[in-house]
Amino acid sequence: MTEQSTDYGRLIVGSKEQLFIKAAELAVEAYARSKAKSFTWAFTGGSTPQDWYRWAATTQALPENVLANAHFTVSDERHVPLASDQSNFGNAERLLLTPAGVPAAHWHPWAVDSSPEQAAEAYRQTMASLAGPGKGYEVCFLGMGDDAHTASFFPGSPLLQDDGNLPFAALEVPGKGWRLTITPAGLRACGLIVVMTLGAGKAEALHRVMRGPFDPMQAPAQILSTCSDRVVWLVDEAAAARL
Ligand code: 6PG
Repeated sequence: MTEQSTDYGRLIVGSKEQLFIKAAELAVEAYARSKAKSFTWAFTGGSTPQDWYRWAATTQALPENVLANAHFTVSDERHVPLASDQSNFGNAERLLLTPAGVPAAHWHPWAVDSSPEQAAEAYRQTMASLAGPGKGYEVCFLGMGDDAHTASFFPGSPLLQDDGNLPFAALEVPGKGWRLTITPAGLRACGLIVVMTLGAGKAEALHRVMRGPFDPMQAPAQILSTCSDRVVWLVDEAAAARL
């Protein structure tokens, strides 16, 4: 693996397996040094996390003390039932939390059976009682889309200009429906952010984020420059091809 520092966080380039191991190690190390009353770990959506869940469940990559004590959630969510294969938490639950035996009392999905605004408010309250008011997660996994979006901030998202300083929000994304998401303020209140970005389809977007002009409205993942001291990018050779 190679490593360098960038304006957007530490950039680690390696093979998929090396990156999967590194993602688990980073979270387990964060758990070991955490002084929070509840250790909160958010997964995210997309295909990469689903591969990582399968890998983590199969290799038993997460130690028992983490599985028993950490509280699990997702950084963002579609407003769909947990049973849907579009549900980020539902996928985490099916592919990792249940197979690994995480107690259901430590599962914290967004309340998608209420309206998006109510779900966001309920989630803010849940997270405030777990982690403290205004706090983000101890560990937040993110991905990046080929349009350079991360979490649920897509190009042009109003959250990139004004998130009202709330750590979590509901918003309707044109053409994609309602999303529930951590906000830029929430990311700044996280302990560690791990962005897994794999595959040739990400090379152009990663180039724009890391090497292009600073314009988060066009390249939303650039918002991570505001918390770069806590961000680690895990990128494979194909995604790093244009860096
Ligand atoms: C989602 C995520 C989204 C995702 C990226 C990367 O719910 O889809 O919030 O930001 O992380 O689109 O997805 P891939 O892992 O499929 O590349």
